[in-house]
Amino acid sequence: MLGETQRSPLTSSVAKVCPVKTYAFAGASKRALDMYAAPILERFGESARIGGFFDTNPVRAAYLGRASAAPVFADFDEMLRQARPDCVIVTTIDRYHHEYIIRALEAGCDVITEKPMTIDDERCRAILAAEQRTGKHVTVTFNYRFMPYVTRVKELLVAGTIGEVLNVDFEWYLDRRHGADYFRRWHRRKENSGGLLVHKATHHFDLINWWLGDEPDHVFALGQRRFYGPTHAERGERCATCAFAGTCEFHVEYRDDEFMQAFYFAAEQHDGYMRDRCVFSEEIDIEDTMNVLARYRNGAQLSYSLVAYSPYEGWRSTLTGTKGRIELLEAESGPQAEEQHSTITVYSRDGQVQCHQIPKAAGDHGGGDDRLRDRLFGAQELPDLLGHMAGSRAGAMSVLLGVAANQSIASGQAVRIDDLLQEPSRH
Ligand SMILES: NC(=O)c1ccc[n+]([C@@H]2O[C@H](COP(=O)([O-])OP(=O)(O)OC[C@H]3O[C@@H](n4cnc5c(N)ncnc54)[C@H](O)[C@@H]3O)[C@@H](O)[C@H]2O)c1
Repeated sequence: MLGETQRSPLTSSVAKVCPVKTYAFAGASKRALDMYAAPILERFGESARIGGFFDTNPVRAAYLGRASAAPVFADFDEMLRQARPDCVIVTTIDRYHHEYIIRALEAGCDVITEKPMTIDDERCRAILAAEQRTGKHVTVTFNYRFMPYVTRVKELLVAGTIGEVLNVDFEWYLDRRHGADYFRRWHRRKENSGGLLVHKATHHFDLINWWLGDEPDHVFALGQRRFYGPTHAERGERCATCAFAGTCEFHVEYRDDEFMQAFYFAAEQHDGYMRDRCVFSEEIDIEDTMNVLARYRNGAQLSYSLVAYSPYEGWRSTLTGTKGRIELLEAESGPQAEEQHSTITVYSRDGQVQCHQIPKAAGDHGGGDDRLRDRLFGAQELPDLLGHMAGSRAGAMSVLLGVAANQSIASGQAVRIDDLLQEPSRH
């Protein structure tokens, strides 16, 4: 067994004081609060200040304003004029990311955007063109790259431990709590999220792209909605008023949850966003069962699957190369999630087996959120030796793999990423 330290030396943050930057928010979401606003106030006051919040929902915008003692604006452009941010943090629902990214770039701001960068190829091209035109910079916050376990895989691959990677298998399974949540909320419409092959798989496709140091080329996919949607006769509009509350496996109860009441339920009157819609609704048009095959530009092949109704949550992956194989298995809920270490098993071609035990890091997303924030707000000047920080090209590549998969599901044909990028073919 090889012991690992809690933080990789390549990603650890060293306190270095940066000039104070002003950040303004497009989207007063839960993610805006938990990932950015609260930690900026608590930990990064020397390098970051919040210039204001904009959201189309005044209740959520006011909540963030109160929590951060920062101004709230009813107009995004007015916020840019008054707050004069260096950088806009985009944390709205996915379908509008492109609008705020482009408007912020045009106003001379850099942008930090949540994943997915956007939800289709046209919006991707518009973002890439705006960034080029304005000379400002887009950062896409791929927090999974920063999980110590995932970072260690990158280190092993960069060190050539298994040679050139020829094949990747990657399987992600969402459980019936987390997975079901995507079928209650805005994500359940493809027009809002691009479906789970964009909204969720963008994390996974980015990891694979980053690990390989390559971009996808051809994509073929199958996908269906078999589990959620109108598969049950016993269904209602929402859990709060459902006649089947006592018997439904998917019933959720938020009556005594002060945060949910104040942040979502009290805000419904303005936009009809209900946090507890029925997972068996006819309105759902995203898949819950997805399989993707892809080939990379340098020839590696990927087999990927995603389901949203597993008894427990987690993922498994294998990477097989010219000199060996890496196997990964990680539970995120259920009994195995209690283990204190994650294990990376490396098989070499001469029969050696090495188990790398990586201590599980505290904090959201396997410690990824903390390490990413250190980079964003605390240690911007440190060298980024493994290329953890992602720009718009990486954001586009992870989205386009999902967009190509969506198009392939619809047409039954393989889809080329170059056709979506509309750049000259490399072949
Ligand atoms: N990286 C991660 O691990 C991670 C985790 C959670 C969420 N996210 C991302 O963060 C973003 C927010 O997700 P959430 O679950 O916190 O959302 P949420 O449901 O809490 O909030 C979404 C917000 O978008 C606002 N909104 C809707 N339309 C808008 C418009 N046209 N202009 C401005 N605001 C608008 C809503 O009023 C709401 O306040 C999403 O892009 C999501 O993918 C990332």
